Amino acid sequence: MDQKRILLIVGGGIAAYKALELTRLLRKAGVAVRPILTQAGAEFVTPLSLSALAEDKVYCELFSLTDEAEMGHIELSRSADLVVVAPATADLMAKAAHGLAGDLASTTLLATDKPVLMAPAMNVRMWEHSATRRNLATLRADGVMFVGPDEGAMACGEYGPGRMAEPAAIVEAVMAALGGGARPLSGRRALVTAGPTVEAIDPVRMLTNRSSGKQGYAIAGALAALGCEVTLVSGPTALPTPAGVVRVDVESAREMLAASEAALPADIAVCVAAVADWRPAETGETKIKKDGKAAAPIALVENPDILANLSKGRRRPRLVIGFAAETHDLEANAQAKLAKKGCDWIVANDVSVAGTMGGDDNAVALVTKGGIERWERMAKGEVARKLAGRIAQEFR
Ligand code: CTP
Repeated sequence: MDQKRILLIVGGGIAAYKALELTRLLRKAGVAVRPILTQAGAEFVTPLSLSALAEDKVYCELFSLTDEAEMGHIELSRSADLVVVAPATADLMAKAAHGLAGDLASTTLLATDKPVLMAPAMNVRMWEHSATRRNLATLRADGVMFVGPDEGAMACGEYGPGRMAEPAAIVEAVMAALGGGARPLSGRRALVTAGPTVEAIDPVRMLTNRSSGKQGYAIAGALAALGCEVTLVSGPTALPTPAGVVRVDVESAREMLAASEAALPADIAVCVAAVADWRPAETGETKIKKDGKAAAPIALVENPDILANLSKGRRRPRLVIGFAAETHDLEANAQAKLAKKGCDWIVANDVSVAGTMGGDDNAVALVTKGGIERWERMAKGEVARKLAGRIAQEFR
């Protein structure tokens, strides 16, 4: 195969430092990288470090007579198989959405006839601003591909979506784009459960838990990105539905089981939901009132186990994956759970690490019948992409 070439536009943002690692990883993967550094980008990384890692010249100015003599800017914009913008700042996205061409980076984006992949990075308020939302919609409609942003703590001290996707995830997106958008799970169907369940005590009170749904939503999105047809059965969360995913909202464990079974047949089931183990034996039809006596105890009955049901059912998906929250004896407990539930893999979550529940990062181990594989601590988005990649390997 001919060597693939990308034109890497590095915008001005703190995430520009990750463009250096991205360049290194792309070169390691055998991809040629020709960098364009914006003026703002040059405030964060030097042309010298970018050039050294890319093993190519760095282009900076629009009107450099030497560059124009060697290679005109129009030619430069066509010299690659793919144009990657990382970090894609709010400013670069706005320029590209409106067709502005006042500098080399924006001129290149306007002049290119090659596919474009952007890795946005900006403050959460800027990402959520209606102007950026509009620009994103315009660029998507123009066929621009996106990877990230991830959600997390930001350099500016705020928190939320806006952090640039990790270099490894951008490399994966680049490879998928270069491979003509290879979608290894296209034609496959997956069911993902996520979020908490809510078990009613009466019309106003309930039993629930603190699950945010982040990990399950990220997995649903990562599977969809690989071409999989995904149904996400979700308890109440505050999260947006990931691109390309069909979401079914439920409240109780019994509703989650019914919706999961309705999503079959599927090739893959990933049970990430924090299902309440018990529910009140009786649900009051009207609000239970204080009557001056001691509070009545709430009798509980066990909820159905969705993972176990899917694992033993007649329409069992070929690959059934469960999650386990463990504070100790991770491997032994996960192996026991694998046998008890009858699933194929357990993603064991080390919740003894502070900040895992509801946080952005996850320290997990993948436990299969064959053994255990410990993954380094990484963002939940990364765990999702890595797991989706492993699932795709199973269906090769
Ligand atoms: N699960 C489920 N339905 C339930 C309970 C759990 O589908 N009623 C799934 C979860 O989605 C997860 C796995 O089973 O994939 C977790 O199993 P569980 O037995 O609840 O393990 P832990 O939460 O780790 O709790 P414990 O160690 O107390 O058993």
